[in-house]
This record gives sequence, C-alpha cells and structure tokens, in this order.
Amino acid sequence: MNTINNSRSSGSQNNTIWEGLNISRELREKQNRHKATVLWFTGISASGKTTIARGIEHKLFANGIQTVLLDGDMVRKGLCNDLGFSAKDRKENIRRISEVARLLFEQGSVVICTFISPFREDRQYARSLIADGRFFEIFVKCNIETAKRRDPKGLYQKALRGEIKDFTGISSPFEEPLNPEIVLDSELKTSDELIGSLFNHLKGDKIIQVSGAS
Ligand code: ADX
Repeated sequence: MNTINNSRSSGSQNNTIWEGLNISRELREKQNRHKATVLWFTGISASGKTTIARGIEHKLFANGIQTVLLDGDMVRKGLCNDLGFSAKDRKENIRRISEVARLLFEQGSVVICTFISPFREDRQYARSLIADGRFFEIFVKCNIETAKRRDPKGLYQKALRGEIKDFTGISSPFEEPLNPEIVLDSELKTSDELIGSLFNHLKGDKIIQVSGAS
C-alpha cells in the first residue's frame, strides 16, 4: 500500500489532491534493512526523556538505522513557536508533531519523539496514525519531587514562584500512560543503563532488525 489514510484531514475540503507516497514504506524498509517505527517518549520535564532519546538515537544510528529525532524544545522553536502550554495549545502541538512523525514513519525512518505530551487523548491520536505494532509509547517515569530537585533548566523553581503558568506537574496535569509498551524508570537506573535496555528491548522484539526487515 502506498497511500496514507487521510480521513482525519480537512484536505478533501481545500481542493488539494495528494497522489500518495512516491515510494512505499515497504520498499524503503527493504532497502534500509530495518523496520520503520515511532518511539514516542512521554514524561514530565526533567524526567530524562531527551537524554535517553539522544542516547538511543546514537546507538541506532551507529547500527545503520535511519533515525529522526523530534524534541519538544526544538519543535517549539520553529514549527510550533506560535503555541503556548494551555491544554488546547498542547493538543495542537502534539497534533502537528504526530502528523510530521507519520510522514517520516511512512518514509521509512525510526522516528524518535520526545514530548511531555501530558494528555492520554493526544498520545492516542499520535498512536492512531501509525501502523499497528509500530508505535512504542515509552514512559520515562520520574517522581515530581525528583524532577523538582533535578530542575536543570530552573523551570520548576520559576513555576513554583508562579512565574510560569500551566507548568506540568505543578499547575497543569500529567496523565500517566495506562498501558505503555515500555517503562523506563529514571530514578532506579542511569540513562546509560536505560538506553542499553531499550536497545535490547527493540532488538528482542525484532522492531529494530539490523538486517532483513519483513
Ligand atoms: S507538551 O506538553 O506540549 O508536550 P513540549 O514537550 O512540547 O510540551 O515542551 C516542553 C518543554 O517546554 C519543557 O521541556 C520545558 O523546557 C518547556 N516549557 C516551558 N513552559 C512550560 C510549561 N508551562 N509546561 C511544561 N514545559 C514547559
């Protein structure tokens, strides 16, 4: 199949005609010799999402896997720089990223997304765009007290002083995943340990095959 189901889009109403993918995901996977996948990291600020995501990307890249990394701080500097942190804006943030992730996924990449993505419904939307078995919700677990202590960007301090509103974990909720594919507890293990176990998990599940994607 070389088309993407576009039923959610309003494209049919704006007179655009899309001819479908030029080269199918299946053909790209065969050439890349690995499956396309979305690794969706969710967790509160300072949980360790970005560190683990950057580490796993290096490890995958070193193994010849075509990767793309989409990170909250990066995306909010460009694609989503018109959005804030209200529930509505976060929804739109995740919607745009989900669509980008889908395009990259359909073109054969292992797409690594690191966003707080605090709402279950929004994460479910991201999942709904990706082929069954290829979306991995990875919950980077970390207690809010630990995150406040870590506070690498000083944002928790600011939020506690009331200088940042709608801050996840302080004045805005984080809905923990109910059934994530993978849980990485950043209080129990170091980032290097978590990166290693994630890599082994992906290999074990034959998601990341260094050769012969089916
Ligand atoms: S999401 O909730 O919409 O998924 P996203 O991952 O894009 O958030 O952005 C989170 C990053 O924005 C955090 O790592 C932090 O650096 C910064 N940030 C700024 N304001 C807030 C806020 N109110 N809540 C959470 N993160 C914030």
